[in-house]
Amino acid sequence: MKVAVITGASKGIGEAMARALAKEGYGLALGARSVDLLERLGGELKERYGVDVLHAFLDVTKPESVEEFAKEVLEHFGGVDVLVANAGIGMGGRLDELTEEEMERVFQVNTLGVWRTVKAFLPSIRERKGTVAVVTSDVSARLIPGAGAYVATKWAARALVRTFQMENPEVRFMELRPGAVDTHFYGKPGRRIEEGFMKPEDVAKLFVYLLKLPPHVRVEEVMFRSVYQKPEY
Ligand SMILES: NC(=O)c1ccc[n+]([C@@H]2O[C@H](COP(=O)([O-])OP(=O)(O)OC[C@H]3O[C@@H](n4cnc5c(N)ncnc54)[C@H](OP(=O)(O)O)[C@@H]3O)[C@@H](O)[C@H]2O)c1
Repeated sequence: MKVAVITGASKGIGEAMARALAKEGYGLALGARSVDLLERLGGELKERYGVDVLHAFLDVTKPESVEEFAKEVLEHFGGVDVLVANAGIGMGGRLDELTEEEMERVFQVNTLGVWRTVKAFLPSIRERKGTVAVVTSDVSARLIPGAGAYVATKWAARALVRTFQMENPEVRFMELRPGAVDTHFYGKPGRRIEEGFMKPEDVAKLFVYLLKLPPHVRVEEVMFRSVYQKPEY
């Protein structure tokens, strides 16, 4: 049984990834702060697909939380094959209006959170010649005035992914760069496709497809958006 770790698995893209990978027979380690949501999801996936699901509290902004989570997961499963570093938050506002606290918060989750999560699982993934997927965004290589902090965290995460790749050629690092997705990221989900949003299931479906490519193929980045989203670069 292959094992996948998903951060930010309580909602949105992470939850959809968990559902899709459980259907493929993966053992799952699900992390997020909303343990109640993880417990419900884990219970449902175990019952429906008969897979082993571990869920645990995870706050990627706290080094000790990431370490504890990784220890628990590695003790339980003995190793991991796939890591999806997905946990992330939004942050709007002009750069000259953002506070120190807001700037720190978004970098802690979206950039440092990715770095410390990948670092924690890397020895095991290296051993298994596994895959690390980091969910950045289509904005990881473009600019949006009024969302500069968020955008900067994703450019930085992109730099981390590529540097990790160069330093660890035996691991397949993949940057997933979705455009707008209908999740809690924008408040309450429920938007129409025509408004320019993909569904979280679309992201999960693409990821499962990519995982099934032959092991000698390394997909390094994928940028994908709704056909109703304006093509901007
Ligand atoms: N939605 C979009 O349009 C879009 C587009 C491109 C990229 N993305 C990226 O996709 C990823 C997932 O976002 P989403 O759209 O699925 O949003 P979402 O529905 O708001 O889900 C975000 C997930 O991240 C978790 N999270 C937030 N802070 C965390 C922390 N400190 N520690 C651990 N987990 C944390 C949340 O869980 P808890 O609150 O339970 O901790 C939740 O499970 C993010 O990295 C986001 O930047 C989203």
